[in-house]
Amino acid sequence: MVNDAQTLENLHTETRSFPPSPEFAEQANARAEMYTQAAADRLGFWREQAEHLHWDTPFTEVLDWSDAPVARWFGDGTLNACDNAVDRHVREGRGDRVAFYFEGEPGDSRTLTYSDMQREVSKAANALESLGVTKGDRVAIYLPQIPEAVVSMLACARIGAIHSVVFGGFSSDSLRQRIDDAQAKLVITADGGNRRGAHLALKPLVDAALAPSEANPTEAESVEHVLTVQRTGQDTEWTEGRDVWWHDVVEPASDEHTPVMVEAEHPLFILYTSGTTGTPKGLFHTTGGYLTGASYTHRVVFDLKPETDVYWCSADVGWITGHSYIVYGPMINGATQVLYEGVPNAPHEGRWWEIIEKYKVSIFYTAPTAIRTFMKWGEAIPNKFDLSSLRLLGSVGEPINPEAWMWYRRVIGGDRCPIVDTWWQTETGSIMISPLPGVTAAKPGSAQVALPGISAAVVDDDANEVGPGRGGYLVLDQPWPSMLRGVWGDRERYEDTYWSRFKGLYFAGDGAKRDADGDIWLMGRVDDVMNVSGHRLSTTEIESALVSHPWVAEAAVVGAKDETTGQAVVAFVVIRDDSEAANLEHHEVAVALREKVKSEIGALAKPRTVLLVSEVPKTRSGKIMRRLLRDVAEHREVGDVSTLANATVMNAIRDNMESGKADDD
Ligand code: WTA
Repeated sequence: MVNDAQTLENLHTETRSFPPSPEFAEQANARAEMYTQAAADRLGFWREQAEHLHWDTPFTEVLDWSDAPVARWFGDGTLNACDNAVDRHVREGRGDRVAFYFEGEPGDSRTLTYSDMQREVSKAANALESLGVTKGDRVAIYLPQIPEAVVSMLACARIGAIHSVVFGGFSSDSLRQRIDDAQAKLVITADGGNRRGAHLALKPLVDAALAPSEANPTEAESVEHVLTVQRTGQDTEWTEGRDVWWHDVVEPASDEHTPVMVEAEHPLFILYTSGTTGTPKGLFHTTGGYLTGASYTHRVVFDLKPETDVYWCSADVGWITGHSYIVYGPMINGATQVLYEGVPNAPHEGRWWEIIEKYKVSIFYTAPTAIRTFMKWGEAIPNKFDLSSLRLLGSVGEPINPEAWMWYRRVIGGDRCPIVDTWWQTETGSIMISPLPGVTAAKPGSAQVALPGISAAVVDDDANEVGPGRGGYLVLDQPWPSMLRGVWGDRERYEDTYWSRFKGLYFAGDGAKRDADGDIWLMGRVDDVMNVSGHRLSTTEIESALVSHPWVAEAAVVGAKDETTGQAVVAFVVIRDDSEAANLEHHEVAVALREKVKSEIGALAKPRTVLLVSEVPKTRSGKIMRRLLRDVAEHREVGDVSTLANATVMNAIRDNMESGKADDD
């Protein structure tokens, strides 16, 4: 899997290098000496980074690794995340600085200073407390990308409650699963959000999630209240006693509130992510170490100058990128940010560039899938806007292909902005591998070097480091402050997933290689996790959604290369002979199956391609051979079939695919 011949070929031919300009290097936050300093005294280096935070009780101990692989960082210190992200700025005279320029999709906008944020989070914190939420309680947040999403997260942090943000694109079943797993006491949602001029309903999905259903015979018992923001004004059902409007409880609440100081290892949030098997994992991060990692990396990787920069991360707060690089990292660093509710092409395909021009954005962070989409729409669109305010560009979510990197640099960055290709994961909490702007000579397509304080390696099956040019597995071989502390309620799953493959090494699940300069190139997942538009999806989770449809006897799902989304979901489905689907057009069946996946998981997981097959390829022990199906889905010659129980099955599948029998969305 790791030695994808074509990828290796591309890597060998990349010789372009973009050293920092002297002007950029001169003013950069990052310094080359940081690498040597951190290597000489790693814990001392992290102590220094943690001391940028405001601690209520200063810590004396940096790392306690005696309960490995569960780390304790800065364990005897106490602090509050919201105090660091908001109050501290007001206290130190930065209250009038803009925290957010919010831009709604319909064109409404709001400007919120750090003082405004302090009032808003204080009101929300008081309201949460009046609803019975206290330290350690879990709160599910299911909101569009509006300021209340940020305020809700910070209000939880302010009272020591643990937020679990669920991306608004997930289905009610997925929401329910997450609510139950974390035993959330409160759900914060909105009537709806804006999407391409339409209203997207959210509250009805919460109602459905909490009600008994086929999948869940009982009501969600942990939830006491649903706090609802009015965003779109659409009608919504109301459960008296349970449901409360934001404007009824938050607006009138007092705007004074004292943050609750918590121990450094107090959990800050849970975030669910797809794994190789079974249900999504509730990864959790704690306070002191996570905030240290998020703020340090944001400062050095994005070169933030808080007095003058306008920073925009286009991710949704429902993902880790939004947690670390909209809410915690930038706010702790006192950044002025843009927050945008909508999609890039509403009402027109230049909307993002219009926003950059309007707010004079200087630092912009987005995903390769978006860049490739813009390439497809053509450079005439960004060229219509004044993008001269930009001075640094970032990329995250999947490997960025050199062509997209070059386009991003030339068309968006005017050939002057450094690009930081940042590798990290929900698990790592903050950026692990990235060029340092002003220090590193950038190479298109490579995330290059572990940040100062971080130690990465590329190893073979026996955990031996591989030499340059050879594929292997990416591991992190030293603990780091923002590392996940576990899978919520399941220590064994944490150890199994991340620490059992290579003893004492954190296994990231990504393939990688180093080039002759020692730079790291990421090569995609080596497990059954797909990366579609930078979103992690599990093949097995989609397979079980498909199999739960009464027509389906069996399903196999693979991620196939896709020009725009990086990978796309391709489903091979065996229909039951006795089901009504046997009499339907292939397309009708495919449409119904996509709907099923949408309702079980969410629209983001819908298969792009559905091919009905009579059998899926399996080994003699009954394991689905996804590798062969990936060959078919990517229109390659089918690999070695010798371990198949029934070797001829692949011929039929390939012929059907090549003769255009698949249904494409
Ligand atoms: C992939 C997103 C290559 C990788 C922050 C990782 C990347 C997974 C990059 C984590 C990058 C993320 N280059 N691959 N710059 N950034 N990935 O948890 O496969 O949503 O394991 O975190 O995305 O996805 P997650």
